[in-house]
Amino acid sequence: MKSWCGLAFLLLPYFWHGSLSCPPLCKCYHRRAEVVCNKVPLTEYPSEGLSKNTTMLTIQFTNITSISEQQLNATPLLQGLHLYSNHLQSLSAHLLRGVPHLNTLDLTGNQLSDLPADVFSHAPLRNLVLKNNVIQKADAEWLPDNSNITWLDMSGNSLTKIPTALLQKLPHLVNLDLAYNRLEQISANSLDALTKLDRLNLCDNKLDTLDASALQSSRNLTYLFLSRNILNKLPHNLFQELTQLKLLSLDENQLSHIPEGLLDPLSSLDEEGLDLTSNPWLCDGKVKYLQRWLQKNKKKVFLPETITCARPQSLVGRSLMSLTEDELNLQS
Ligand SMILES: *[C@@H]1O[C@H](CO)[C@@H](O)[C@H](O)[C@H]1NC(C)=O
Ligand SMILES: *[C@@H]1O[C@H](CO)[C@@H](O)[C@H](O)[C@H]1NC(C)=O
Ligand SMILES: *[C@@H]1O[C@H](CO)[C@@H](O)[C@H](O)[C@H]1NC(C)=O
Ligand SMILES: *[C@@H]1O[C@H](CO)[C@@H](O)[C@H](O)[C@H]1NC(C)=O
Repeated sequence: MKSWCGLAFLLLPYFWHGSLSCPPLCKCYHRRAEVVCNKVPLTEYPSEGLSKNTTMLTIQFTNITSISEQQLNATPLLQGLHLYSNHLQSLSAHLLRGVPHLNTLDLTGNQLSDLPADVFSHAPLRNLVLKNNVIQKADAEWLPDNSNITWLDMSGNSLTKIPTALLQKLPHLVNLDLAYNRLEQISANSLDALTKLDRLNLCDNKLDTLDASALQSSRNLTYLFLSRNILNKLPHNLFQELTQLKLLSLDENQLSHIPEGLLDPLSSLDEEGLDLTSNPWLCDGKVKYLQRWLQKNKKKVFLPETITCARPQSLVGRSLMSLTEDELNLQS
């Protein structure tokens, strides 16, 4: 009798939370309707005990390999679904049909490659993260026309082409991250629909140049990252419309010259907002424009004195800013 009482007492909190069930191995924060299953030996979606009221669900660092429409149907109020670092390899075209409030879907660190048409059409997504998967081609059919997505992260995949048709469906996009892919070119009009774009990350690709009109529609661009490509040539009017740009990274490319006037439109650059380091500058007469611009805008440049000549032999290692008119004239 006594032990029963003890037991009942022990179990009281459990029963008292009767309606507030929680899937085994997961943590539930009932007040904010959030469920987190973090680094636990789950191999299947945690359906059992998942409250219908759940609005935020995180399943990360587990061994689940799939997730189905029926499983998501059990949480129709879901707004955020974070599936970071699991073993998902595919998604069904109807996956999101039962979650009409889902605005954030994060699928970072899975093994997704081909995805079916309409896979992201059924929910009012604003944030879509497909980072660090093995996607080779981003298909326009994934999304509805005029999608409300504002944040798209496809960094760390195997894209070789910029997904022009997909981007045309994203007029509300504010952040686009395509870093760590294999992009070789940005064709002329691929970014034209993105008039609200604030942040564009193209670092760590294989771009050797950009089309002169590639950035003409993104007048509100504030952050542009182009580090670690193989850029060796930039059209003189490439940045013409970027009067709002605060940060531009061009470090670790193959630039030996930049054309006269290229940097003139960038009137909003932050202090140290322009990174030109680690490029093989050729210090001949044609470097004069850059040299004068650097001298005049030193504060806006990141480590300006480390922008140095790679050629000719006689000037190797010299800071561009320190070169005299005579030294440059000798080389032209
Ligand atoms: C779900 O939310 C409703 C309304 O806020 C509440 O009455 C109910 O107890 C909740 N159910 C669960 C299982 O949390
Ligand atoms: C996932 O499976 C692997 C291999 O079976 C195992 O070593 C690992 O501990 C599992 N991970 C989790 C979070 O259970
Ligand atoms: C985008 O959002 C608006 C306003 O919430 C809505 O009317 C429209 O249907 C949404 N578009 C899509 C494609 O979901
Ligand atoms: C660009 O930014 C300005 C100021 O923040 C804003 O008024 C304008 O609507 C933006 N343009 C677009 C196309 O979003």
